[in-house]
Formats: sequence, C-alpha cells, structure tokens
Amino acid sequence: MLSYTLSKDGPFQILQITDLHLTHDWHYDVRTLAMVKDLTEFAKPDLIVITGDVFTDGDRFTPDVMEYACRAFDELGVPWAFVMGNHEGDYRYGQGAREKKGEYIRAHGKNALFDPGPDDIFGVGNYTVGITDKAGKLLWVLYMIDSNNRAYYTVNGQVKTCEDHIHFDQIEWYRQTSSRIQQTHGKVPAMAFFHIPLPEYTDAWLFEPCLGDRGEHVTAATVNSGFFAAALGQGDIKGMFVGHDHTNSFAANVFGITLHCCRCTSYEPKIGDTPRGGRVITLMPDGTFESYTVLHVREDLQKEGEPKAYRQQETVSAPYYDRFHFYLPEKK
Ligand SMILES: [Fe+2]
Repeated sequence: MLSYTLSKDGPFQILQITDLHLTHDWHYDVRTLAMVKDLTEFAKPDLIVITGDVFTDGDRFTPDVMEYACRAFDELGVPWAFVMGNHEGDYRYGQGAREKKGEYIRAHGKNALFDPGPDDIFGVGNYTVGITDKAGKLLWVLYMIDSNNRAYYTVNGQVKTCEDHIHFDQIEWYRQTSSRIQQTHGKVPAMAFFHIPLPEYTDAWLFEPCLGDRGEHVTAATVNSGFFAAALGQGDIKGMFVGHDHTNSFAANVFGITLHCCRCTSYEPKIGDTPRGGRVITLMPDGTFESYTVLHVREDLQKEGEPKAYRQQETVSAPYYDRFHFYLPEKK
C-alpha cells in the first residue's frame, strides 16, 4: 500500500528544497549544492523532499548531470525523496526523459526514495512515503505526485503552451490509496508534495492572509482538475508543498488545508539578489505540524563563526480581495 516507510519516535523533520535548476554552469551549480549542504546542516532533517526542477535540460536525458546531482544528494547522508518538475522533461512529447531520469535515480541514488508509480496512470513518480513510530504505528502519509509538464490549448485558433495539471487518474489513485489507508489505519494525517501550484494557490494569493513572501504572481495549473477538492473530500491532507515560482514562499490556509510555496534553492542568476533557501516542516506524532522558510546566507556574505542559514522572520500580509464580496476593480 505504501511505497516506502520511515520510522522515528518524536517529531519528524523534513527539509523541502526545490527548483535547483542545475545548469551545466559549474560556477552556479557548486554554489547551489553548497547551499543544499548548508540548509541540511541547519535543518538536520530526517528526510529531504525535492519538489522538482532539479535539472534544466528539459527533454534531454543527461547522465552526467544526473550523476553529480545523485552523488551530491547521497553525500548529505539523509533519505531524499524526489518529485518531477516541468523541467524534468515533457511526458508526452519528449523522448522519455522523465522515465529515464526516474530509472536513473532508482538505480543510482543510494539514499533516494523514488517510485515511478502505477504504469496505468499519468505521470512519472506518483508514490507514498509512510512515517511510523518505532512500534510501527502509522503517523503520517506523504503523497508524492507528478504535477506533469505542459498542456496545449487552442486559444483564438492558436495553440498555447500552458502549465499542465494533476490528471483525473492520478487524483483517483490518491483517493483510492487514501481510502485504503483509512480503512486499515483510521484517519492518518497526510501531506502532498508536487511541483506546479494548484489554481487554489492563486486564490490563496488573492483572498487569504499570507504568511511569508508573495514575490510574484502564482503560475498555477491552467485548468483546475480537482485535486484540492479531492483532498477536502478525503479529509486527510493537512498541507500541500510546491515549488515552481522561484520568489514565492508564502503559506496560506484555505478551508483547513495549508498551501505552502518554497523559496527556490538555486543560485541560477535569473532572480538576482532575492534570497534563496528552502522550507522546514516538522511533523508531530499527534498529527499537528509546523513549517517555516529557511534562508541561506550567500557564500560571499558568510562571516566566520556565524550560521550559514537562518529561519526567516515571516510576516502576515492581508488579502487583496474579500473572497465572498469580490468586485472587479473599477475602470479608470
Ligand atoms: Fe518549474
């Protein structure tokens, strides 16, 4: 029923990192992988979850980058779970890059948790990680989901490339897995990790108080396929964790599910001087959790004896609109 199980008594610490965008430009990659090491030393995680876009190669499968990425993650000495981002290759129109990357990680990642998932559903890497106490009681379930790559829609006669969504068969897989777990173990709290934000993240950005940085508009799945509604229906998922938007790091509660973004964990130059980092998540045995953004101190600013990473003092910003009394801005 569960793809993997990890055991620990007491709080279970997760470090989420995302959007590393290893580039073949060794100068940036070295700094990015040094940041991953510093964040790991800061968070002392029991599990690292990488929410996609480790690579920038798109549809190409590049064993050399895979090799140094897997080696760098393994050297952290902590289990690491991986979900695909849109930059891991195009599932439908590429040349099997996602499947090959998944196979490589399974074959060579010594501490890697990655399962391609059922063959008959969409995506590569739909799987579960169970967290138990030492006595074997299931305390948490982590759903790892492939939020896929591109979708193509015709708009005014022109084909537009859009963000894909979590497909119906993946949602059905989640519903069935969740129901089976609940039949066996009762209602076990769960978390979901994937790359591309759901449309509900855009709603959260507009309509909810947000803790942390709203650095940019949310680039969400273009079509709402109903994963959030399925999670509400199952009643087990307490939080969702995504990447994709490099300067968003906010968290917002939407109808009882907290939607979290993660600061990008890359020194790729595209976002200038914006601080980089990750997210720390602590799962308590009683089903509660805490989460915050961790920021990295850039290598050239690090002072001897001072920490290389620190917890960001996040503030709450007010919603832009009232969800239930929403009027279009007046035309000027
Ligand atoms: Fe992305």
